Amino acid sequence: MTDEHKTATLTVDGKSYELPIFSPTAGPDVIDIRKLYAQAGVFTYDPGFTSTASCDSTITYIDGDAGILLHRGYPIDQLAGKSHYLEVCYLLMYGELPSATELEDFEARITNHTMIHEQMNYLFRGFRRDAAPMAVMVGVVGAMSAFYPDSTDVSDPWQREVASIRMIAKMPTIAAMAYKYTIGQPFVYPRNDLDYASNFLSMCFAVPAEDYQVNPILSRAMDRIFTLHADHEQNASTSTVRLASSSGANPFACIAAGIACLWGPAHGGANQACLEMLKEIGTPDRIPEFIARAKDKNDPFRLMGFGHRVYKNTDPRAKVLKESADEVLDLLGIEDNPTLQVARELEKAALADPYFIEKKLFPNVDFYSGIILEAMGFPTSMFTPIFALARTVGWVSQWKEMIGDPQNKIGRPRQLYQGDTQRDYVDVEDR
Ligand code: CMC
Repeated sequence: MTDEHKTATLTVDGKSYELPIFSPTAGPDVIDIRKLYAQAGVFTYDPGFTSTASCDSTITYIDGDAGILLHRGYPIDQLAGKSHYLEVCYLLMYGELPSATELEDFEARITNHTMIHEQMNYLFRGFRRDAAPMAVMVGVVGAMSAFYPDSTDVSDPWQREVASIRMIAKMPTIAAMAYKYTIGQPFVYPRNDLDYASNFLSMCFAVPAEDYQVNPILSRAMDRIFTLHADHEQNASTSTVRLASSSGANPFACIAAGIACLWGPAHGGANQACLEMLKEIGTPDRIPEFIARAKDKNDPFRLMGFGHRVYKNTDPRAKVLKESADEVLDLLGIEDNPTLQVARELEKAALADPYFIEKKLFPNVDFYSGIILEAMGFPTSMFTPIFALARTVGWVSQWKEMIGDPQNKIGRPRQLYQGDTQRDYVDVEDR
């Protein structure tokens, strides 16, 4: 991996240090600074990790300038168009597309684990009825380590595999239960005759009093939303999972940490925040006012669903989701939806505005996912739990990769200390 011929030279206080350079299979070269402190006695400073690679990985590659997202080398638009979520899960977890038998076996293993421990029902019932489903998910997923202690030993590859399958299989059940609980409806058990996405829709929208038929177009849109959110390289929640796991914490605790991080409005919470913003805008004539606010340095308001740390051209997931949004809204006959109208006009206005052009701010995946999810009947509070369930496979795959990596070390960043230097304690009566 190190390119023998390439090194970087760093000069500190007149003394030079040669730093090896790694050449990845794709993407920019990476300077190896691991020995820098030992050799030169200095740290590097990079808040937000804008220029720092935190690990080796073979799972997902993003070229932000070209708007490319690859999982194990396969472009996301091909996966979203030709594959389906569970096949993508297999690809992320094991590195290759499965054969027909491997896929059948994997689907059977997932399906076999969709139910949750019956005692967990009581855990849900301990929450307030008006609890945010995301709050319930953080708690319940963390509590899985109490219900499945037989798959918490991270040093055992078999237990790691079982924990991974359990989380991918049970996350839709947990998310659907968190929803049903908040609307006061009975929990709906998983149906193993349905595919992954249809089963999730059934657990969310079926009621015991009636038959529920899953609409295949909605199920396909759901599956596509899952697929498009499956993994995204070393983003904030994935890095949180890796950092939590670097201490040897159990897998359920690590994924719960990832869910907590995803919740923030700058990350997975943006889909909810985006739809709420579109509703607040209300009518296209108010768009200029909100665009002006987004550009005002003295106003903390940002256009939610716009911009990305890595994509500076286009978010390839947004392109696919835009098509899905049209398809779903057509099917449901909601052409005149005012939120959709605001979304379309806002997109046009922002893409033509010099501020957004110069700063390379484009609609991201969250701009369209909320529109589809709302049309499907999900309340905004379920948008981020759906992102979390879809991202579970990404977290799990990155976690498994990290545990299997012999270079795995506890994550322990350094700091640029700006506080007081040593001083003597003063008794309270003398202060
Ligand atoms: N509206 C208005 N201005 C923006 C926006 C926005 N949505 N996003 C970035 N900017 C400006 C920002 O003010 C800054 O301006 P200046 O250089 O004058 O200070 C410049 O663009 C660069 O922004 P940044 O915050 O330094 O960029 P970042 O890479 O740290 O942040 C981001 C990326 C996604 C957090 C940010 O674009 C944002 O807050 N977007 C809105 C929230 C959102 O939609 N998040 C979902 C991301 S996609 C799903 C996911 O990964 O979870």
